[in-house]
Amino acid sequence: MRIDVVSLFPDFIAQCAAFGVTGRAAERGLLSLHGWNPRDHAEGNYRRVDDRTFGGGPGMVMMIDPVRAALVAARDADPAPARVVYLSPQGVPFTQAKAREFAAQPRLILLCGRYEGVDERLLQAEVDEELSIGDYVLSGGELAAAVVIDAVARLQDGALNDAESASQDSFEDGLLDCPHYTKPVVHALGEVPAVLLSGNHAEIARWRRMHALGRTWQRRPDLIDEAALSPADRKLLDAYRAGLAEVGDDADG
Ligand code: ADE
Repeated sequence: MRIDVVSLFPDFIAQCAAFGVTGRAAERGLLSLHGWNPRDHAEGNYRRVDDRTFGGGPGMVMMIDPVRAALVAARDADPAPARVVYLSPQGVPFTQAKAREFAAQPRLILLCGRYEGVDERLLQAEVDEELSIGDYVLSGGELAAAVVIDAVARLQDGALNDAESASQDSFEDGLLDCPHYTKPVVHALGEVPAVLLSGNHAEIARWRRMHALGRTWQRRPDLIDEAALSPADRKLLDAYRAGLAEVGDDADG
């Protein structure tokens, strides 16, 4: 997969391909990342890319022409069709389902705004969708683009080692992940739940599912409402709640 990023800070984006799973995906040739700087397409001695917002008020707006030229350069760099995504707090929420959708594309162009954003006419003309990574305001789209790149890179076939299988991730089935433990079994901070040491795969799977359901119910009730829980899941969730009633307020351990 090829991802192009239009940003005033392409060096920031290049760092995504330097570390961890994204770095490995790039190394293995599963993902290529390319930066395009609107400033390289700006005119005049100052290579200006922004100007005041019409209507008054604070903040600057990125101008159409330099951004558009960078976008066109990115698009023309490869013949495969590209989906153009603008990162902004006004976008639709980025989800694991969206990451999967993107991961199946041959190309993605991520457009990062700075200041008050990009002239709306450019967005209307060139952008396929506007995406937000959460209900908070960042100083620019670069961190959001890095989030999208990471989520998409780890879904490329061969990006993860067996031990990191993406199908086990949180959200793949609409639920949060269950708790995980490693050595030592006994520690001053507590003991590993006995069932995880039992070797009984059916019991372990049941415990994990119950805790995934329970955590999601406690922390993200909105996800529980959306998830189509089977009768077996409902029973597990009831068992989790019953366990909570027994031990007090926390059945995570
Ligand atoms: N740019 C600034 N804030 C953002 C957010 N929350 N999501 C995506 N892009 C952004």
